[in-house]
Amino acid sequence: MEGEAFPGLNPRNRKAISGNSSEEKRSFYELPTTNSQLIKEVHEMKKVVLAYSGGLDTSCAIPWLKDKGYDVIAFLANVGQGGQEDFKAIEKRALQTGASKVHIVDLQKEFVDDYVFKALRAGAVYENKYYLATALSRPLIAKHQVIVAKKEKAMAVAHGCTGKGNDQVRFEVTARLIDPSLEIIAPLRIWEFKTRDAEIEYLEKKGIKMDVTKKSPYSVDLNLFGRSIESGILEDPWAEPPEEIYKLTVDPAKAPDKPTYIELEFLNGFPMKINGKQHSSVDMIHQLNEIAGGNGVGRVDMIENRLVGIKSREIYENPAATVLHTARQELEALVLDRETLHYKQPLSQKYAELVYYGLWETPLKKQLDEYFNQLQERVSGTIRLKLYKGNCVAVGRQSKFSRYNQKLATYGKGDIFDQKLADGFIKLWGMPY
Ligand code: ARG
Repeated sequence: MEGEAFPGLNPRNRKAISGNSSEEKRSFYELPTTNSQLIKEVHEMKKVVLAYSGGLDTSCAIPWLKDKGYDVIAFLANVGQGGQEDFKAIEKRALQTGASKVHIVDLQKEFVDDYVFKALRAGAVYENKYYLATALSRPLIAKHQVIVAKKEKAMAVAHGCTGKGNDQVRFEVTARLIDPSLEIIAPLRIWEFKTRDAEIEYLEKKGIKMDVTKKSPYSVDLNLFGRSIESGILEDPWAEPPEEIYKLTVDPAKAPDKPTYIELEFLNGFPMKINGKQHSSVDMIHQLNEIAGGNGVGRVDMIENRLVGIKSREIYENPAATVLHTARQELEALVLDRETLHYKQPLSQKYAELVYYGLWETPLKKQLDEYFNQLQERVSGTIRLKLYKGNCVAVGRQSKFSRYNQKLATYGKGDIFDQKLADGFIKLWGMPY
């Protein structure tokens, strides 16, 4: 089904976007044994697959789940949050804290091709400011967690989210939509530990030594498409974020005094080239993070409406996302007719809400993918951007699908617009009123 949703795309993206996911879907819906056999096996083993980050909470969740009688398998998704070294260390920690097995899966390419680029082509920006980096990674991680659960014949999946955030919703709705038979466990919502110290004490009692480095006062989530920062002093909406929280962007005041110009080429809404050079999708994001972050581009400070009803103060760093969304939007302004452009804007907003609300695997989101896919047929061309001290501005655009006609627009020589027609047009335009 998904394969047909992307006709007319360049081969690289067609393969990446449709081929893999439909195959995977087929294989993980296939049950390895008969249902009754499977259910029996699963219950005997009482296995749980935990989405593991290596932090204190999920490290504590391993022995806690074991206490509840589960065999714990740790699952670690690589969505671009760290180097290979970190993953080795995290794997070791999972085993030390009592996991019987660790699955590490590199999802970077799938993340960019199937999630980030879909949201980009849909122009999805939540509340006009948030490029959805964290929100986009959750349904992907949940999907692969379910795949691991199937492989391991686990009866349950678990995550380390609290009961106040959006991520719990995204993980659980996705997992349940893919496999409603899985039990979902959210230790942090139900366990007895009220503080980090209580968690550390619990681990010590179990004889588990974890070198808990001095806890940063911030809660951070990082992937290829952006970095989300919250808590600590940031909870005061009047307090300016301290410079120390930023890692992907230089302080705009200290950014180079000379602007950086880049030319970004799109094909059907997919970014293909930077300054004429083709990049793989993952590398494209890396490069843009580097270039834009170096100019202080991509910082966002916002009060956002969480799904669970509270407002929260969030800081984001998303250099690549800023550049890509800005450029693609500029290209749309050049190539789409007025009514198409105006009609799609609330749909982009709707798409962003669906992503934010954890409704990735839903019919409406898939229908909108098809709509936006068709809309992007003309979104090919090049945008020239100027990156300067935190600003990202389009200063040039060209496309073979451009609807801009200089002969009609000009106030100079060569004007072909017949101004006498305006008189009748205006009379008819206002007539109904
Ligand atoms: N508020 C954002 C979202 O719901 C980011 C949450 C990221 N988590 C964090 N630990 N900072 O998508």
